[in-house]
This record gives sequence, C-alpha cells and structure tokens, in this order.
Amino acid sequence: MARPKIALIGAGQIGGTLAHLAAIKELGDVVLFDIAEGIPQGKALDLAESGPAEGFDASLKGTNDYADIAGADVCIVTAGVPRKPGMSRDDLLGINLKVMKSVGEGIKAHAPNAFVICITNPLDAMVWALREFSGLPHNKVCGMAGVLDSARFRHFLSLEFGVSMRDVTAFVLGGHGDTMVPLPRYSTVGGITLPDLVEMGWTSQEKLDAIIQRTRDGGAEIVGLLKTGSAFYAPATSGIEMAEAYLKDQKRVLPCAAWVDGALGQNGIYVGVPTVIGAGGIEKVIDIKLDKEEKAAFQKSVDAVKGLVEACKSIDSSLS
Ligand code: APR
Repeated sequence: MARPKIALIGAGQIGGTLAHLAAIKELGDVVLFDIAEGIPQGKALDLAESGPAEGFDASLKGTNDYADIAGADVCIVTAGVPRKPGMSRDDLLGINLKVMKSVGEGIKAHAPNAFVICITNPLDAMVWALREFSGLPHNKVCGMAGVLDSARFRHFLSLEFGVSMRDVTAFVLGGHGDTMVPLPRYSTVGGITLPDLVEMGWTSQEKLDAIIQRTRDGGAEIVGLLKTGSAFYAPATSGIEMAEAYLKDQKRVLPCAAWVDGALGQNGIYVGVPTVIGAGGIEKVIDIKLDKEEKAAFQKSVDAVKGLVEACKSIDSSLS
C-alpha cells in the first residue's frame, strides 16, 4: 500500500518541526509548501539527509507550487505570521486571514479529500475562515489548540505534584486565547480530580489558580523568552498527535477547535471542544456537562471567538 501523503502548508518553525516528526514517526511522505523560495526545498533536503542516520523511510519534498500537494491525505496549515512580544494572537487576524484565503483555495483545488488541521493564529477564527475558503466538509477541517493547551496544563501540574506527565490528564475548553477555559473538574492525577486533590491537601487552591493562569499565558511566556517568534516544538507535536489519530483511525479523544452545531449549547461555531478523531475526521463532538460557572466561562470564550469571526467578515466581504 502506498504511504499516506502529508502536506505541510507553511515551512517555518512549526512546519519544519512537523516535517521532522512526521518523518521520524514514519507517518507518510511529506510535502513542505511555502511561498518563500528555497526554504521548503532546503528544509526537505536537510531532513531527507537525516533519514539514513535516523533510519526512517519517508520521502520529503519542498515546493512553492500547490500542484505538489495533489491528493494529500492530511494538510497541516501553519502558513502566516507568528506573534512578537507584546502582541496578542488576535493582532495577527488581518494578515493571516489573507493567507487563509490563498491556502484554502490551494487545498480546495488540489487536496479536497484531505483532513485539514489548522495551527495558524488567531486559531479559532482562522479555522473557520479556512473552512469557508476551502469549502471542505466541516468534519474534515479542524484546529490544533486544545491538545497544546492541555499539554501545557499537564506539564505544569506534573511539576506541582512531582509525578509523571503520563499520569496527568487535563481538559481545556474554549477558544485558543486569553479566554480559554481549563477545567479542573475534568482534570486528574491518576484518575483523582483536581478539586479532590486540593481537598486531600496535595496542593492548594492558590497554587492551582496560578497554574491555570500560567496555562492561559503559556504561549505568551514562550514568546517573551524567544522574542523573535512563538512556540513551535509543542505546537508541532500536538498537531502530529491529531494527524496520527486520523491516519491510523485511532478514535483518540482529543480537545480541538471543531465545528460545534448543537453540542454544549452552541450552534454553528468553531471553538475548542472535546472530540473523537478517527478515519472519519472529527467523528464526534463530546457534549460534556458543564456547571454554571464553567458554562459562563465557556460562553465568554465563545463570544470572543464570535467577535473575531465578525471581524473576518468585515475585512473580507466574501465571507459574509
Ligand atoms: N502561503 C504559504 N506560506 C506562507 C504564506 C502563504 N500565503 N504566508 C507566509 N507563509 C509562510 C512563511 O514564509 C513562513 O515560512 O509561513 C511560514 C510561517 O513560519 P514562521 O514565521 O516560522 O511561524 P511559525 O512559528 O511556524 O508559526 C506559524 O502558527 O502558532 C501559529 O501564531 C503562529 O500563526 C503562526 C503560525
């Protein structure tokens, strides 16, 4: 059987890391696309030359021509600009919306059957715009944010409790921004929920609140340290986890920016929710029960995403 084809639209920091991970994990053959001439070709060649030492079988090709993504099974989109210190993800909206238009048209023309994972920020609004521009079915277009936000939450929790990250599960809902909603009630250490762990005295509410805030600010913390760009190792790893779930029909339960139409009291919006990812793409949005406070926080986040979607419509009238 032929190897799956993975098209990476954007060959910058995240795109290059995605290509490296996809090759090492032998998920398929990789095509790196970018508008910058030489960058995707150079990265693809460098990565291909790592193959003999690492010992993977995958072909890597760099290109500036959308025709080369023809028939891709998965497209992961990181094209656009990242933020700099002092910028919010929302500040990227105008410029990255234009990028989504050309990427959406490229995917529509050459890879209409792909499972598309968007990583470009501001995430929830960009996924919505990419779906509109590409015209692909809603279950085949989603955004990577929840896996990353919950990975950050899990990392900070594992440091606090001094236990393996593998034994920490975490749930983060809502938009990928300041209004994201980490859910302690659905986050556990070895199956014990965070409120129970506070009651047991293993940590304090104050420490937990500080961890939640650090999770919300996780992206900005990295931007502040790097100064010249934003996070790329953890975002790429999170995107690959979603691509693998689709390619191997794993039926993984992963939080991601998915089309919500009926679940969690929402209709017709892309926002971070728990989903099942398998060969059918986003096979299910899990309609979890929220208490009053969680509902209010989720609604605030949904409203923030809606505001960004309206901003997209006012910039590009074809989206109205
Ligand atoms: N088509 C294809 N590629 C494009 C386009 C376009 N229209 N416009 C820009 N690019 C490419 C750039 O040439 C660059 O190589 O997108 C790449 C982006 O790479 P980086 O600047 O290194 O950004 P990166 O850190 O990979 O982040 C990409 O993901 O997490 C988000 O906020 C982040 O929106 C940003 C995106």
